[in-house]
Amino acid sequence: MRLVLAGFGVVGQSFARLLMAQEKELALTYGLVPQVVGIMDSSGWLVDEHGIDLKKALKAKKESGKVAAKGRKGEGRKSAADVIRDLEAEVLIEATPTNFKTGEPGFSHMKAAFESRKHVVTCNKGPLSLAYYALHELARHNGVQLRFSGAVGGGTPVLDFGKTCSMGDQLIGIRGILNGTCNYILTRMEQHGVPFAEALDGAQKAGYAEADPSLDIDGYDSAVKLVITANHLQLSKAGIKDVKVSGIRGISSEEVLKTKKQGRAIRLIASVSAERGLVVEPTVIEREHPLCITGANNAVEFECEYSGPKVIIGKGAGGPETASSLLRDLLEIRGKINGQAATLSAYSMSGISGGPS
Ligand SMILES: NC(=O)c1ccc[n+]([C@@H]2O[C@H](COP(=O)([O-])OP(=O)(O)OC[C@H]3O[C@@H](n4cnc5c(N)ncnc54)[C@H](OP(=O)(O)O)[C@@H]3O)[C@@H](O)[C@H]2O)c1
Repeated sequence: MRLVLAGFGVVGQSFARLLMAQEKELALTYGLVPQVVGIMDSSGWLVDEHGIDLKKALKAKKESGKVAAKGRKGEGRKSAADVIRDLEAEVLIEATPTNFKTGEPGFSHMKAAFESRKHVVTCNKGPLSLAYYALHELARHNGVQLRFSGAVGGGTPVLDFGKTCSMGDQLIGIRGILNGTCNYILTRMEQHGVPFAEALDGAQKAGYAEADPSLDIDGYDSAVKLVITANHLQLSKAGIKDVKVSGIRGISSEEVLKTKKQGRAIRLIASVSAERGLVVEPTVIEREHPLCITGANNAVEFECEYSGPKVIIGKGAGGPETASSLLRDLLEIRGKINGQAATLSAYSMSGISGGPS
């Protein structure tokens, strides 16, 4: 299976390392022998139709900061989208930065892949939240699959778990913690009694929050993940404008500590239900509730009409974690191409794109 890798940062490099580490397991257990024939970063691209030596590519990236270092294959003016379109490959792994306003460059990369009949595996939330149905339609039109487990929950299979919960049952609603940074900040305020600004500073020092953390702390990142989840689980056809969003910026340590004394906790909860629609807001929950997790984790509760509530908890981000979701998706695609469609998401995408017809 020939792969093109767009984005060679935290996730892209972790994915390359995972392919190397799992090489034998992939071949023996799944019969998968992946060959990366193209890698792109913001500086350019590296192409080798016989398969790129990933160890060398990682070393070059570390030393020069670029995949297309001088004197190596890949220098040129061709755009990344053109490279994706022209390369002989089966799957695009899209891991470029998320842009919530335009979806670029991920959107153009995915479009080029679909138009040249390549499957797409992505963890990029931007294009999915802006053009969920258009992307699925494009995939279906070209007879290929689109998978995006890593876009919500990092390595924790929130979307697949939700699909499993809804099979043969009625999913009534979901609620959960979709942003680990906010949860880390609230936990620090609660456990150390520090004000919001100090807890945020701690999150930045620990590498959880960006230099500009507004997308996390103002609730926008949770809202985007909620939109993707709600559409994927067919609970709503809403877009980001339909989400009522308030973040955690205004929460004082007094409020947090007062709530703690009452045996409860404040968490940034994203929810979708028939009564309230899509909402992201700080919410007081009981400390014993499974959703009341600590640290930079994610937790999502799925409320089902017949089987009741179920909760999935795990790490919501991280390079190796998210790379494992990309690989899981790749194996799903592989299984489906080989006619082994009895896997979870073969059902999940039915009627949207690439599902069994
Ligand atoms: N990190 C996580 O824990 C996590 C979890 C879930 C989802 N995600 C999503 O995964 C994606 C990647 O995240 P990341 O943490 O790996 O980001 P990152 O470390 O910033 O890496 C982004 C990569 O994309 C490359 N890039 C930027 N613009 C490009 C362009 N126009 N064409 C080709 N490549 C381009 C960058 O090039 P340079 O190397 O030259 O800068 C870099 O290699 C994002 O969409 C993010 O939201 C990340």
